[in-house]
Amino acid sequence: MKKISCSAEAKPKKMKKALLSYTLAGAMVLSLSPFASPVADFSAATTAYAANGNSGAAQDQKIVNRVDAERAIDHIRYLSEEIGSRPGGMEAEKQAADYIANTLKGLGFGVEYQYFPVADQYIAAVKFADGTLWEMGASSNGKVSNEAVEAEVIYVEGGLNPADFPADTAGKIVALTREASTAAYRTQVDNAVNAGAAGVILQSVVGSRGNYGSTFNPSLTKKYDVPVYGAAFIQVEWLKEQLAEGPVTLNLTATHYSNLQSVNVIGTKKAKTKTASSKEVLLTSHMDSVVGAPGASDNASGVALMLELARVFKSYNTDKDLKFVAFGSEERGLLGSRYYVNQLSQSERDNIEAVFNPDMVATSYEKAENLYAMTVDGSTNIITDSTVAAGARLGNSDILPGKFGSSDHVPFHNAGIPAALFIWMGIDSWDPLVYHIEKVYHTPEDTIENNISSERMQSALEIIGSGLFDVVRKDVPAAKP
Ligand code: BES
Ligand code: ZN
Repeated sequence: MKKISCSAEAKPKKMKKALLSYTLAGAMVLSLSPFASPVADFSAATTAYAANGNSGAAQDQKIVNRVDAERAIDHIRYLSEEIGSRPGGMEAEKQAADYIANTLKGLGFGVEYQYFPVADQYIAAVKFADGTLWEMGASSNGKVSNEAVEAEVIYVEGGLNPADFPADTAGKIVALTREASTAAYRTQVDNAVNAGAAGVILQSVVGSRGNYGSTFNPSLTKKYDVPVYGAAFIQVEWLKEQLAEGPVTLNLTATHYSNLQSVNVIGTKKAKTKTASSKEVLLTSHMDSVVGAPGASDNASGVALMLELARVFKSYNTDKDLKFVAFGSEERGLLGSRYYVNQLSQSERDNIEAVFNPDMVATSYEKAENLYAMTVDGSTNIITDSTVAAGARLGNSDILPGKFGSSDHVPFHNAGIPAALFIWMGIDSWDPLVYHIEKVYHTPEDTIENNISSERMQSALEIIGSGLFDVVRKDVPAAKP
């Protein structure tokens, strides 16, 4: 079967500009504590990390002069366009793992794979007459089969009332906008099936953080003979545009994938001048994406930054071991990083000095104005300090410290290992609880075209690269201010 792709080329051209006209939620409001200090206090970190004066700045130039956003974006292109979506435990995630492993091996680093089991996936392939394929989540209680259901699709407004369905619904695939509550969308599915629908596609609405709504696996209590899929918000918008131009036939199949294994890829750059006391430093990123999303920003961007820094660091000797770790199945519950941390002994945990975890480091979303170094509890650590100080030395004011969980730095933090997430975001000065994050993440629109900025990638490479270089070069960690 042709690979399932969510890249821009895979959908009919006329659909491309569709999203521009939609404005869903305004600012997203998260139920998280505000940043400890939204306005960075550079002074303390700067003192700790610029102690070597000009040599710090000279050292930065070794990184800044060599990192190249366009090379990083080539990695994003491979991951998000050649491979496409990379759901945890699936073949596409393994392709990403191989690409990362081969890149790291090509740079001369030793590489290991670390496998771990993950839960089953139910994934649907929705095929158009022109061969375009969309990925959706399938309900395990609907028909999950590679025997196709092929029929005309109609969009039905509402669906909570049986009278919403037209008289000629029987035999057609019905697309509906899902009600917010699970109980209510179950009624919509019931009504569609009772009206004779050959299949049901539920459109997701606004996502958990104000994003446009990703694909999902509808949660049903009853069993149905027909396929019931969960579409991303934008997929059904595109479908409606096509329907406005004439009838559309869809071919629906779904697969239950079981006994799945996901994987972490670990590349190691050995220290040149290691002393008994020198610890190791990790640069990590998750390579998986959610079902239906090419994940250019989330998180091909983090992987790309990691691989571009691996290329630049290859030429320099360091005083500490540096590990480049690509995690699998982050989107399924931080599974790769949890597994990685769980299998470490206490002495191995104690040996990790810092974990730099870029996740969404190149968005073009205009409101995401700063690159935040986020710790789980909002306190500063070697990662936030070294990168804030690097920003100050470079005269780059993009970087700010902040407080956030939701990524692979969390299991490290929980094990007492200093870790931070790097992510572009915006916050309103009048209300630090209002966070601006790109609305297209976790959707089919998380593409290079829609969501990647070369300037933001360059800034992230320079700041994170300079902070990381400072940490791996220091033989003795600087005392915390
Ligand atoms: N890249 C996101 C994390 C993120 C998104 C952080 C927006 C801050 C703002 C990450 O890949 C993600 O989606 N994480 C999951 C974590 C969950 C599966 C434990 C999330 O936040 O839903
Ligand atoms: Zn992510």
